[in-house]
Amino acid sequence: MNIKEIDQKYVANTYARFPVQIVSGKGSIVCDETGKAYIDMGSGIGVTAFGIADDAWKAAVIAQLDKLQHMSNLYYTEPCAKLAQLLCERTGMKKVFFCNSGAEANECAIKAARKYACEKKGAEYYTIVTLVNSFHGRTVTTLAATGQEHYHELFQPLTPGFVHAPANDIEAVKAAALANKTAAVMIECIQGEGGVIALDESFVKELAAFCAQEDILLVVDEVQTGNGRSGKLYAYMNYGVQPDIVSTAKGLGGGLPLGATLFGEKTQSVLGSGDHGSTFGGNPVSCAGALSILGRIDDALLAQVKEKSAYVFSELTGAEGVESVSGMGLMIGIKPVKPAAEVVDLCMQNGVLCLTAKDKVRLLPALNIPMETLQQAIAVIKAACK
Ligand SMILES: Cc1ncc(COP(=O)(O)O)c(C=O)c1O
Repeated sequence: MNIKEIDQKYVANTYARFPVQIVSGKGSIVCDETGKAYIDMGSGIGVTAFGIADDAWKAAVIAQLDKLQHMSNLYYTEPCAKLAQLLCERTGMKKVFFCNSGAEANECAIKAARKYACEKKGAEYYTIVTLVNSFHGRTVTTLAATGQEHYHELFQPLTPGFVHAPANDIEAVKAAALANKTAAVMIECIQGEGGVIALDESFVKELAAFCAQEDILLVVDEVQTGNGRSGKLYAYMNYGVQPDIVSTAKGLGGGLPLGATLFGEKTQSVLGSGDHGSTFGGNPVSCAGALSILGRIDDALLAQVKEKSAYVFSELTGAEGVESVSGMGLMIGIKPVKPAAEVVDLCMQNGVLCLTAKDKVRLLPALNIPMETLQQAIAVIKAACK
């Protein structure tokens, strides 16, 4: 049996895989088992922030592997402590909990929000308001948080205490929060899986003011939007608000599993000893790699992300076969006239790997994709949309 056949026989059938086996890569180029090269416009769904086999990330990971690949959270380790310090220094947040994935980062945010509200207002203040069309993960609790009914259907009963309100409708969100005893409102500043749709600035600002006034926590899910993707270090920074809790993952680890929940002024002391934990959380190798990633998401790199984003928007907006272009930074949704899946297939045939999100072609290239490579990919995508 070849690899595709072995996978189909033995791996749980949860992914509709493309008929391609990726074997290696460098930067924004990946190769399949036949040696065909592709420009990678998905970066493992926003994970390989500096591309495949990035030299600096690899060096940091290998150096750490030579010292210590794992230690339990019963002991201090340097990469974990230093990464928490860097995250706090770069965001103004105060404390960090490390885990392994976006869903876990959100689970931690939800637990902390409920404990905060329980201690401040009472145990009945457990409701979390999230937005219609949001995506927060696939555990039983983060599915409940996800505002898309079709993900819920087969897995009832989900964790209770989640209410969904329409995005960009501040009155509806306020009404949902006030009609329930609410601990937190959780948002993605740019809905990713929901179709790459940025929230309105006025909505986010008014929401932050409302949350502060009611002592309801503002939780921002930066799993997909975070770590430079939006053109700022975290997408909330585009909106001039300060969340109480931020969850992130994906690009932070640069390709190794790593999630983080960041706590601000109000929430920094909520979780105490024994309240939460993770065997692999803060893994030294993942954290050493993340230090290399986060350390390089500086103003110069963010300026390049914005410049490349402007290029993609200008090339595709109004192009033949393109209805609209949405998103921010290098998180871009293209609504083609043709079905998105058809465009993605055509691109793949022509050596460009893209993602979809609902009816959009979604682009999440490496933040450091070279301009010429991006230009080549956009030419292929443009032609495929025609
Ligand atoms: C906004 C958002 N939150 C949470 C998740 C879940 O992350 P993970 O798959 O790492 O659990 C995702 C994954 O796509 C996401 O986009």
